[in-house]
Amino acid sequence: MNVLLINGSPKKDGNTRLALNEIATALKNNGIDSIIINIGTKAVQGCIACNKCGELGRCVFKDELYENIRENLANCDGVIIGSPVYYSAPNGSLCAVLDRVFYSCSNLLQYKPGAAIVVCRRGGASAAFDRLNKYFTITNMPVVSSQYWNNVHGLMPGEAAEDAEGLQIMRTLGKNMAWLLKNIAQGALPVPEPEEPIATNFVRRS
Ligand SMILES: Cc1cc2nc3c(=O)[nH]c(=O)nc-3n(C[C@H](O)[C@H](O)[C@H](O)COP(=O)(O)O)c2cc1C
Repeated sequence: MNVLLINGSPKKDGNTRLALNEIATALKNNGIDSIIINIGTKAVQGCIACNKCGELGRCVFKDELYENIRENLANCDGVIIGSPVYYSAPNGSLCAVLDRVFYSCSNLLQYKPGAAIVVCRRGGASAAFDRLNKYFTITNMPVVSSQYWNNVHGLMPGEAAEDAEGLQIMRTLGKNMAWLLKNIAQGALPVPEPEEPIATNFVRRS
């Protein structure tokens, strides 16, 4: 079994990566492999609402980051998304690619366990954490939790190593993800039969 870890920081060896590494070690210790994708420092294309993905089953844009995430989603059993907190939110570049991934790849994501982690100096972790969890909870994904909300504190790269409680939260999350994946693999009842989708909005035309 394999978990896809997405590092939403432009720093590939910053605090978000450090926190994800702690999860990767906990997963490994519990028999689960993982792979990390860094979003990197290049400009990231956002969603342009063309809705072509509905026809194509994938985003019209073929950038390397999107392709890499999409390919790895097809082969993973669970997903963990990590982000630094920027102005009380996840990194905008990360949201740009995640909007496209979740809009166009829900078939590769649904019923796979997901979790978010965020890293900040001081504040805004809960808001950023909530924002990332919204991707899972609109995609039929079971959300894996830990012993506390999934945040780690640190400013300069490496400082998160001093947040003992934060790292324990990461290890517990890794163990909980491994536990859920093994349970799903063992028992696996078929996923629920979906209803015909109903789409409504609040604009009434007479
Ligand atoms: C543009 C920007 C905005 C930030 N906003 C916040 C914030 O709202 N709250 C906070 O506590 N830290 C904030 N930070 C600090 C980062 O979240 C912190 O340095 C984090 O450890 C970076 O993780 P990384 O090393 O993985 O990039 C901000 C940093 C940047 C560059």
